[in-house]
This record gives sequence, structure tokens and C-alpha cells, in this order.
Amino acid sequence: MAGILGKAIAGATGGNGSLSRSLLSQAVNGCRALMSSLPAAEPTTAPRMPDFAHTPAPYTGPPAEEVLALRKQYLSPSLFLHFKKPVMIVEGKMQYLYDERGRRYLDAFAGIVTVSVGHCHPAVTEAIHRQNSLLQHTTTIYLNNQIAEYAKELADRMPGNLKVVYFVNSGSEANDMAIMMARLHTGNWDLICLRNAYHGMSIGTMGTCGQHTWKQPMPQGFGYHHALNPDPYRGAFGDDGPRYAADVADLISAATPGRVAGFVAESIQGVGGAVPLATGYLPEVYKMIRAAGGVCIADEVQTGFGRTGSHYWGFQRQGVTPDIVTMAKGIGNGLPLAAVVTTPEIAASMAGRLHFNTYGGNPVCSAGGRAVLRVVDEERRQEHCAAVGAHLTTRLQALAAKHDIIGDVRGAGLMLGVELVKDRKTKEPAKAETAAVMETMKDLGVLMGKGGLHGNVFRIKPPMCFSARDADFLVEVMDVALDKL
Ligand SMILES: Cc1ncc(COP(=O)(O)O)c(C=O)c1O
Repeated sequence: MAGILGKAIAGATGGNGSLSRSLLSQAVNGCRALMSSLPAAEPTTAPRMPDFAHTPAPYTGPPAEEVLALRKQYLSPSLFLHFKKPVMIVEGKMQYLYDERGRRYLDAFAGIVTVSVGHCHPAVTEAIHRQNSLLQHTTTIYLNNQIAEYAKELADRMPGNLKVVYFVNSGSEANDMAIMMARLHTGNWDLICLRNAYHGMSIGTMGTCGQHTWKQPMPQGFGYHHALNPDPYRGAFGDDGPRYAADVADLISAATPGRVAGFVAESIQGVGGAVPLATGYLPEVYKMIRAAGGVCIADEVQTGFGRTGSHYWGFQRQGVTPDIVTMAKGIGNGLPLAAVVTTPEIAASMAGRLHFNTYGGNPVCSAGGRAVLRVVDEERRQEHCAAVGAHLTTRLQALAAKHDIIGDVRGAGLMLGVELVKDRKTKEPAKAETAAVMETMKDLGVLMGKGGLHGNVFRIKPPMCFSARDADFLVEVMDVALDKL
């Protein structure tokens, strides 16, 4: 099929590529419906992507080369692309993405763990459209039902006394706010965070990150102390959470005045390469932090809303209840929406001054966020993540038995990591190999995520409608790509 399209384009361009865009467009769109049912490339032996009944709309924008040139000239030079030969994505439907030529890809990364219930999920899209045509924006200086009802619906899904909601626009902003709250509430300044963590790119959150790659060479804020990472695969104490927790006690007594504002952690480190915190770590650390006057912040930006399968919130996997929870990404299925949820007592500490956020919880984002909550419940996405995640993990473990380069398969639900190493004993990261496998998988129709400090971990965090058949396809494609190394 790629050959047919190639010939159509070659014919249309008369061989010199300079033909009018409309003729090229016609040739491309002529093949579109047929292409959409096929994986991105299809050598005869290639695994077959599950069927999906959707025909992408004709693409009428500029070609990928022109988009790339515009991006290079007018956008940040710090932007990075995931593939040597970039992919341009112009449409999405549930767990699939389409490029400008109508080629379909299985999306295993969900816009960096953001598209929770599916690309352009009809219920979310419909809720957004309805609100869009009624009222888009006023801010909180007037009453509006959407933000108020949304706050209640979100609070109803929280454990304990986590009942006060602040809506903001991004995960960084949510974490900034959580840190400010912790400091104001406790009257302390120092914050314990983890090596290998990622909590955002704002000036405030950059200091909490535990990877040099995400830090600009400038002051990182002060009062951030990075504890040993309780990493079951690479850490010194394996999966022994309490032994890592002892380092937090040491850090509090050595690096702070003995009193702290708080502790912030993801329960499975996302950007860090899908690293679950060692068993029993959080209960010990939460006790220590509270004994030192601090509050505990759970960053649920990636792990929330049922993705980990066994629980709605990632922190529940360790049996703890935080004092402040931050969320973003999956909360809005792609809308710029984030939230901080805390207790009335902590919220009261900020009430002595004004606090305002122009877009936070605006009617359109709130309507979309409410639809996400409904879909997660109605489509039983948490249970689905548990079932499909278990199936995918079993298949990936079988793949690890075949390919020595797979050093570790880890995670929970549909938040999984596959770490590639040159040698299972030394665990030397197989960075170039990871990039090569990822490129081949893309050519075969699977868009993977990548992370970890050394870029040698596949992050598999698809939209939560990802099926067992999709999981099989992904593993079959990964097998072919690993064989090709
Ligand atoms: C765990 C975690 N926290 C916070 C953030 C920051 O979110 P945003 O990029 O929306 O500012 C991210 C982004 O990747 C994240 O993964």
C-alpha cells in the first residue's frame, strides 16, 4: 500500500516534487480511506494492527516538510522530536492516531500520558462542544455551575478529608501551588523530593526535579533536598522501601533545621522511566515527614484516574493518604486543565490573602473534565487498565525471556516500563538500541513513549481504551523490532 501511495505521489508530483498542493492532496486523499485500515508500514511479515472502523478526514494543511521548517524557524529551539524521520499527526480517534497521509498508528503514549479516555472521545468532545456554544469564559468573579459541580464530583472521588479543590492549567502550576501551600501551612521551608523525579518545568518545580536533563543552569530554588530514589530495579536496597525511607530521616536531620514543609513524590515515576516506588516506602516516609511538621504531597499527574488499575489514585497502592494531591494530564483528556486537592485546614492557611487563576476551571475545561470523570466510571476504565495491563505485562515478560536486552518490565495497569540494557548484570543502559527499536516500531505502526535519565526505557501509557488485542499487536511489533537489532 505504501508503494501505491508512493506511486500516486510520484505521479502527481511529476517526479520533481513541485506540483500544486491541490493535485497532490487529491492523490493522497484518494488513498486515504484504504490506508486508514492499515498499519503505518507493512512488510508482508509484519504483524497486523487490529481493525478499526474510522476513516480520517482529508488533510488540507501544509506538508510535513513545510511544518517542520515553520517549527524550526518560529518555535523554541529546545523542542525535540521522538523520531529521526518525524511523524506528523493530524487526527486521533480513541487509541489510534493518523498522519497527514491517513496512515494509522497505535498510540502507546497518549500525548505523554494525557489522553486518558481516548482521542476525541465522543462523550468528552460533545460536552466540550455544548459548553463551547453556551459560555467559554468569565473567571470565578461570577457564579457558574460547571466549576462548582466539577469540584464536588472530583472531591467525591478523593479519600479522607481531601475536599477542597483548586483548578489551574498545568501540572507545573499545580505542583507550584502545592509547594506554596505546604510552606504557608507549616511555616517551614524545606521540601524533600526524590532523585529521578519530575514535577514540572516552572522555576519553582524545576528545583524538585531529580534529573539533570530537566534543569536549566540557573539557581534551582532553595530548600529542595533529594532523597535516595527507592528504585526497585536500580536502587541499592532493591524493593525494600523502609531501607530507602531511612535516608529521608537522615536528610531531614542533616540538611534541614529538623522541621520541613513537606515531601513530594509520584507513586510511579513517569518521566523517570515508569519506576514504581519500592514497596512500603511511602507509609514510612509519610510518618517521618509528619513527625517533622511537614505535609505529604502526592503528584498524581500521570498515575491518577484509574490508570494503575488496582486503584483510582496511584498513592493508594501504598496504602497512604496524602495531605495534598496534584493532578493534570489525564484529568482533561488533552484540555489544559489541572487541579490541586487538599484538606479544609490546609486550604485555610492560604485564605488570608487573595488567590486567583484566570483560566483555572473555566466552563469549557470544567465541562470536559466532568465528562472525563463520567467516562472513566461508565466505561469502567480502572478495571480495564487492570485487566489489559496484566495481560500486557505477561506478554512483555515473555518477550523479556526471549530477548536479553530487556532488563526489566515494570509498572502497574496501563502505566508500564520496559528497560533496555546492554548487559543484565551491569545494567548498562542500551540507549541507542532503544531509539532504534522505537523507530522500527513506529515504521510498523506503533508509537511508543521513551524516558528515564538515559532514554533507555519504553514508557507504555496508552489511552485507557487500549485493548488486549492492541497489547498483542504492540508486543508482536516489539518482538520484530528487537529481532532487527
Ligand atoms: C508527574 C508529573 N508532574 C508534573 C508534570 C508537569 O506537568 P505540565 O507539563 O502540565 O506542567 C509532569 C509532566 O510531564 C509530570 O509527568
